[in-house]
Amino acid sequence: MRTLAETALALVDSGRGILAADESIGTMSQRLTAEGIAPTEENRRRYRELLLTPRGLSRMVSGIILCDETLRQQVATVDGNVAFPLAAKQCGILPGIKVDAGTTSLAFGHGALVTEGLDGLRDRLAEYADLGAAFAKWRAVIDVETATEHSIEVNAHALARYAALCQEQGIVPIVEPEVLCAGAHDIGRCEEVTDRTLAAVFAQLRLQKVEPEAMVLKPNLVTPGTTGPSVTPSHVADATLRVLERHVPSTVPGIAFLSGGHDNATACQYLAALNGIAVGAPWRLTYSFGRALVSDALHAWGGEDANLSDAQATLLSNCARAAAALEGAEPAPASA
Ligand code: 13P
Repeated sequence: MRTLAETALALVDSGRGILAADESIGTMSQRLTAEGIAPTEENRRRYRELLLTPRGLSRMVSGIILCDETLRQQVATVDGNVAFPLAAKQCGILPGIKVDAGTTSLAFGHGALVTEGLDGLRDRLAEYADLGAAFAKWRAVIDVETATEHSIEVNAHALARYAALCQEQGIVPIVEPEVLCAGAHDIGRCEEVTDRTLAAVFAQLRLQKVEPEAMVLKPNLVTPGTTGPSVTPSHVADATLRVLERHVPSTVPGIAFLSGGHDNATACQYLAALNGIAVGAPWRLTYSFGRALVSDALHAWGGEDANLSDAQATLLSNCARAAAALEGAEPAPASA
């Protein structure tokens, strides 16, 4: 049996990344509806089965993050139905579980959000470990417009409480402080807020005795806001590396970036530029993309069995571009 540090390293250390397929029932239902697919429990299951089962996925994907509903569902295989966590392991992919309960407005936070889900978390983690989860995820959301010392500290505190509980229960925590890219701010503003956020997160992780060797950090790339002044991938890479170097201990095995609404080609360009300049960095720099890997596949599928192989091919080609970005390779143009 692997130690937590070995599992954390396995998630980030093989030239592979993590597939985030853990949208809550509400978010997943909205995404299905937007594609004209009925938002039923069975369609959510079929879609996650599509994501997990492409042949060769494990060459590019080390772990898959699921939500509570999917963790309890079954994949249809030639040998009968198999629970998702076991099916993932059979494919050579570690199963993970999103354990936060989403965001709510922070009291006296002037519009800032705080992530909920700590109540009862110890027992839920014990159950998830029994169900086969090797790692977990908790996402804190920081909006540059509403970010204050108060909102950053409260979110950092909750992230560290979650991470400590995970390690106590034998699960590797993915620590995800996401500075949103919604807005018209420039890259400097994103760097400033990401800098303050990572400072607070690592101070809380230290205070709460979280072992850096046995976690994975999942931050945003430092970019301008979606409607802010655009910059080159090398500018993004420089700003991102600067904040990581200031705050992430060298003993953290890896950093797996979220895609944050950037499309596959853009997110992969940023990741390639970063890996191109981070030669010699102490941590592995990989992906834990959601939308940048899966949105094109969902669109190609449209809920139709007849489109399954096209949708899986689309997912594989997005994963291949992300994996190529780990080598610092300029990604090929998107085919979808
Ligand atoms: P995106 O890559 O779509 O931002 O999602 C990653 C994720 O896990 C969000 O919590």
